[in-house]
Amino acid sequence: MRKKVSIVGAGNVGATTAHWIASKELADVVLVDVVEGIPQGKALDLLEAMPVEKKDVHLIGSNDYEATANSDVVVITAGIPRKPGMSRDDLLNTNYKIMSDVVAKVVAQSPESILVIVSNPLDVMAQTAFRQAGFNRERVIGMAGVLDSARFRTFIAEELKVSVENVTAFVLGGHGDTMVPLPRYSTVAGIPITELIAPARLEQLIQRTRDGGAEIVKYLKAGSAFYAPGASTTEMVEAILKDKKKVMPCAAYLTGEYGINGYYIGVPCKLGAAGIEQIIEIKLTPEEDAALKKSAEAVKELCAVVGV
Ligand code: NAI
Ligand code: 2OP
Repeated sequence: MRKKVSIVGAGNVGATTAHWIASKELADVVLVDVVEGIPQGKALDLLEAMPVEKKDVHLIGSNDYEATANSDVVVITAGIPRKPGMSRDDLLNTNYKIMSDVVAKVVAQSPESILVIVSNPLDVMAQTAFRQAGFNRERVIGMAGVLDSARFRTFIAEELKVSVENVTAFVLGGHGDTMVPLPRYSTVAGIPITELIAPARLEQLIQRTRDGGAEIVKYLKAGSAFYAPGASTTEMVEAILKDKKKVMPCAAYLTGEYGINGYYIGVPCKLGAAGIEQIIEIKLTPEEDAALKKSAEAVKELCAVVGV
């Protein structure tokens, strides 16, 4: 039997994620949204692309959660995105209410599923979903580090004129201005980028990574990025569905790892069939450690606003 992935929020990120999942033939997909017609129309349009793509997956759209029953993975992108001048944190109160409502409905239909949270502000939304779902922490995962790292990898590959395949990068911390790109753990074919890029230039690439989401918002004006977010979400879903044991930065609920207790923050995780199968603790310098703790403090402050 094919795997089943439901995606709540059939907007830009949700529909793009459905597109990547279908084009990789990973699972049947159910798109859900509050707006009538949108999930149905987008799912049907994607379904009609499958003969061309030669992929045997089924896609349906619905405004009803019954269609999501017994999903293996549920991706939640429901909410409002940023407009120019807005920070991810400006979305907090609206998206908190949406996330709480959506998770209750998702869990009622798919009590064994793994949740991949995308809505912003990401770390607080993951925490909201975790509290609402009552799942163990392995099964509620936030997507941000894969995207932030992909942006950093893009800028490194362009700078050095090397294949993107050669570049690995790690961006930890919260998905916001306090994110923590780790140049020491970022490499080109195993060579640390600190050996290849001068410190001042590297700092510019790091700043561009931190501003990566805002850079796209500035161009689009009416919304935020969705192609790279959709691809990043799909990489996580694929690792889970195929039990790949793939290590990637994900927002995970920490219970003492990195000296952080009771909050979601981006850290290296091993993703497999059980969700987060391991949180990997890497050695940080005092500066990196302080940056991660500062990022966790920012998440903590926002969590306090909505009481999660
Ligand atoms: P969008 O506006 O294109 O789509 C959001 C969809 O959610 C809309 O179709 C809307 O009707 C739907 N929705 C709203 N309330 C709902 C509810 N109660 N139940 C079901 N559906 C509901 O926005 P986009 O660009 O897809 O972004 C979605 C979210 O993902 C935003 O919060 C955005 O900030 C976040 N995001 C997070 C990223 C990350 O790295 N974690 C990357 C990109 C976006
Ligand atoms: C991004 O980083 C808006 O969080 C979204 O593009």
